[in-house]
Amino acid sequence: MRNILLIGGTGFLGTAMVRELARRPATADCCFTLPTRRRERAKHLLVLPTAQVVEANVHDPATLARLMAGQDTVISLVGILKGGEGEPYGKGFARAHVELPRKIAAAAKAAGVRRLLHVSALKAAADAPSGYLRSKAAGEAVLRDAGLDLTLFRPSVIFGPGDAFLTLFAKLARIAPVFPLAGAAARFQPVWVEDVAAAVADSLARSESIGAAYDLCGPTQYSLRELVSYAAAVAGHPRAVIGLPEAIAWLQAWAMEFIPNGPMTRDNIRSMRVASVCDSGCTLPFGRIATPLETVAPTYLRA
Ligand SMILES: NC(=O)c1ccc[n+]([C@@H]2O[C@H](COP(=O)([O-])OP(=O)(O)OC[C@H]3O[C@@H](n4cnc5c(N)ncnc54)[C@H](OP(=O)(O)O)[C@@H]3O)[C@@H](O)[C@H]2O)c1
Repeated sequence: MRNILLIGGTGFLGTAMVRELARRPATADCCFTLPTRRRERAKHLLVLPTAQVVEANVHDPATLARLMAGQDTVISLVGILKGGEGEPYGKGFARAHVELPRKIAAAAKAAGVRRLLHVSALKAAADAPSGYLRSKAAGEAVLRDAGLDLTLFRPSVIFGPGDAFLTLFAKLARIAPVFPLAGAAARFQPVWVEDVAAAVADSLARSESIGAAYDLCGPTQYSLRELVSYAAAVAGHPRAVIGLPEAIAWLQAWAMEFIPNGPMTRDNIRSMRVASVCDSGCTLPFGRIATPLETVAPTYLRA
């Protein structure tokens, strides 16, 4: 294996993914190609000598065909949390979670690239309550039908330095005297970004992972209320968390949809109606032991 294309590899998980691959003997010498919509967003990756960051529109089939040429493996990581409203999902979700995987599969097949690792989301299902989860399921289905050597990963919420989850709660705690919280009872089983990256990287050398789908979770389940209280306390700003009734939470989320980069949408609330936890009790594949949140989160939340 010489060349790995990471589509969506410039983000939170992608960055951990490239670093993990770059430090493993089996992949350290690989050339990693990282398309991005804006090169300056991926500056942090330019220091990796084997990473090539290229400004590209991955939705354009001709561009995708160029990126795919000469690759041995594709890791597909594009995901969005705000894709608009619609049935079965909003247009943004359709484009990023369904049409893009379809284009990736077509380009991979045309270029003779067989191995595809795809990151979806825990509890993605055609009958899930949110457009996010339904579109993630549709993307999985498209890839399963493509006949490639596919491995799917379905993480619960991911934590680590730079996450958009605990870090956001810690930041908000600094400015808010109390926490009015939508979905306070929602359940999560947060998984460390480096554990996710390691599991994906492990699968490259595991032929049994071809055709498999792995749910990825940390060792412990929490309510959202517990996680917010924890992040605020660890950041040095303990706060009272007030769970919002569903109708108010809904109204708050709707209002936030008008704010650019607003922290919540109605679709996010719908996603939280299903517990993002690993039902089977399993956490990570390939004998990996999941890292407890409490051993990692203080290292970056305190800072
Ligand atoms: N983070 C979590 O808690 C979590 C939990 C479960 C599943 N996941 C899944 O894991 C994957 C990676 O998540 P992440 O947290 O690393 O996300 P992220 O930090 O937001 O990164 C998203 C990546 O996708 C690219 N991207 C975003 N929207 C795009 C679009 N419309 N067209 C093309 N490229 C686009 C971004 O590239 P640019 O450089 O162009 O911005 C970036 O490389 C996603 O599929 C996500 O759904 C994440």
